[in-house]
Amino acid sequence: MFASVFVLILGLCHCSQESRLCHCSQESNQSHLGQPQLFGPSEALVKRVVEFNCKLLTYPKNESILLQLYKEDNHDNLLSEYTSLAGEVATFPMIIKVNHEGNLECVAKAQNNSKIGPTVSNTHHLKVIEPVKGAQLVVTSGPVEFFEGRTLELQCKLTAGNHVSYTWLLNGQPVSQSPHHRATDNQLLINRTTAADSGSYRCVATNTFNNTQVFRSNSSEVVITVKDVVSNPDISFSVLKEDSHYYFAVFTCRSIKGMPPVTFSLYNRTELVANTTVDARNATFRVPLVLGHLGMLQCQANNGDQVVYSEWIPLEVVPVGGPVVLHYDSDTGENYAVIGLRLYCKAARGTHPRYQWFLNKTLLNDSGSFYYVQHQPPEQSIVLLSVGRSSAGTYHCEVSDSFDSSTTISSKRKYLDKEVVNRLPVLVVVVIFGCFTFLVLLVSVCCWAGVVFRRRQYGEKSLLSLEMQRVIAAYEGELDVSQYDDDADVVNTARGGEFDQASEASVDEWPQIGRKKKTLEDEAVEEH
Ligand SMILES: *[C@@H]1O[C@H](CO)[C@@H](O)[C@H](O)[C@H]1NC(C)=O
Ligand SMILES: *[C@@H]1O[C@H](CO)[C@@H](O)[C@H](O)[C@H]1NC(C)=O
Ligand SMILES: *[C@@H]1O[C@H](CO)[C@@H](O)[C@H](O)[C@H]1NC(C)=O
Ligand SMILES: *[C@@H]1O[C@H](CO)[C@@H](O)[C@H](O)[C@H]1NC(C)=O
Ligand SMILES: *[C@@H]1O[C@H](CO)[C@@H](O)[C@H](O)[C@H]1NC(C)=O
Ligand SMILES: *[C@@H]1O[C@H](CO)[C@@H](O)[C@H](O)[C@H]1NC(C)=O
Ligand SMILES: *[C@@H]1O[C@H](CO)[C@@H](O)[C@H](O)[C@H]1NC(C)=O
Ligand SMILES: *[C@@H]1O[C@H](CO)[C@@H](O)[C@H](O)[C@H]1NC(C)=O
Ligand SMILES: *[C@@H]1O[C@H](CO)[C@@H](O)[C@H](O)[C@H]1NC(C)=O
Repeated sequence: MFASVFVLILGLCHCSQESRLCHCSQESNQSHLGQPQLFGPSEALVKRVVEFNCKLLTYPKNESILLQLYKEDNHDNLLSEYTSLAGEVATFPMIIKVNHEGNLECVAKAQNNSKIGPTVSNTHHLKVIEPVKGAQLVVTSGPVEFFEGRTLELQCKLTAGNHVSYTWLLNGQPVSQSPHHRATDNQLLINRTTAADSGSYRCVATNTFNNTQVFRSNSSEVVITVKDVVSNPDISFSVLKEDSHYYFAVFTCRSIKGMPPVTFSLYNRTELVANTTVDARNATFRVPLVLGHLGMLQCQANNGDQVVYSEWIPLEVVPVGGPVVLHYDSDTGENYAVIGLRLYCKAARGTHPRYQWFLNKTLLNDSGSFYYVQHQPPEQSIVLLSVGRSSAGTYHCEVSDSFDSSTTISSKRKYLDKEVVNRLPVLVVVVIFGCFTFLVLLVSVCCWAGVVFRRRQYGEKSLLSLEMQRVIAAYEGELDVSQYDDDADVVNTARGGEFDQASEASVDEWPQIGRKKKTLEDEAVEEH
């Protein structure tokens, strides 16, 4: 502090601490030391020889000055020193070590004059680069083969290197970024692994000197296998017949995903029926069979993590039997013409039927130009037909056991063509027309009967005959409602939509109606 004030007062020079081109007197008679200046490279490679310089701008004459190089925070450890007699610039050649990194400073002292206090230079930062070496990938989470969902933790270890950045490669490609993948420092953490995280991992460590020289170290590869847990299996079975009287159920257990090998087991309600370990996701079991209902069975699958189960299915084998029925329904297009047909074939019994369709006794394949067969075993089989010239002919279906074609049951034959299937609405029309005709006939008969009845009881102006007249008149559409509005009930009946009902009130009932009316009349008389 005193030194700088003194310099200012004298006005001898105006040099800043940083300025190296300072033109002021370097020697004086003052008994104090100026602040030394330290300079040198800011970055250095380890084990290389690097030179730092320290320069004192102001110093007393005829004093030997000692210049020393230290780390800022460690003055116990002298890095280098230099004695300057005539104010020459101190040079500190150093073999760089990793621990040289940090803030360096230069301390100036008058060697034989305790009256002169020491001064300290500005700090100079040195970054030391040690090239990366010996990268090694270590799996810190455990085994390299494990089931999905677990956490994978990898570490990239080095034998040497600082200021390192790490990249992670999976099968040669940078590891994908996701919330489940976290790379920090030299560690890669994969949360909730899936089979997609399987592969060959490698870490690459790099560091850079002077922005120009890049050092790189590849680790060797580590193969990680994330196994997917086997999924719940499906169970199905088919029936085989051998040597004309031995039957077998062939069970298939199949999982959609899961890393082989998988152990499949077949259980009935009480015990293990069969088991096998396969290098696949499916297995088959042959179980001897007697026909009938044989209980429930289930598949179990396990590939090392947990046991998964299929549903229970009944092992039931009933041969086909009973009548085989063929029927159809239709789709109509414009103008109510039939354009498509669905033919159904159904056997009364049988758990494993095999359906076959024939047109003019020719077996139909699963699909053709005008048809498509839809098997829905065991219930039925359907043929979808477009109606046209090529589909015309005689159809029938045959059913046999899928495991035994020795017995075949045939349906009745049905001739179908455009005319036949379109006749259907005509038939309906005929029926309706027939009904009308019948109705008209019935009414006519009623009329005739009425006339006869009236003749017989003529003069006897009974209520009954009057009513008869009305009813008949109503049927014949000649009734003048206004004339008879005193008896609205009857008119309503005749006018309303209950034409059929009215006409169905048969002749037998009429005397009863008459009787009722009479009774009512009697009651009225009694009251009077
Ligand atoms: C410096 O010391 C030398 C001998 O060591 C002497 O001859 C010289 O006069 C001294 N100069 C000053 C300025 O004291
Ligand atoms: C300073 O003192 C040392 C011993 O401490 C001596 O060897 C040296 O010659 C002295 N230098 C001067 C210039 O007096
Ligand atoms: C694991 O994943 C969840 C997101 O599902 C995330 O919040 C959590 O921080 C992750 N844990 C680690 C250790 O990466
Ligand atoms: C640092 O890089 C510069 C160019 O960017 C180059 O001129 C210089 O020589 C390099 N220094 C060392 C020590 O390699
Ligand atoms: C490091 O890995 C890269 C590919 O990532 C390869 O091109 C290079 O040769 C490897 N270097 C060493 C030293 O293994
Ligand atoms: C299970 O199978 C065994 C032999 O495979 C048989 O003896 C047992 O009766 C079966 N149990 C049931 C409930 O079907
Ligand atoms: C089948 O089951 C038996 C009895 O549980 C067991 O000893 C055997 O190891 C199993 N075999 C396979 C291939 O899993
Ligand atoms: C699994 O299924 C495939 C195709 O469906 C078949 O080729 C293979 O033989 C089956 N494996 C077993 C063990 O049944
Ligand atoms: C089937 O036979 C009938 C005659 O019975 C014939 O009209 C029809 O064209 C034949 N259909 C086919 C596809 O052969």
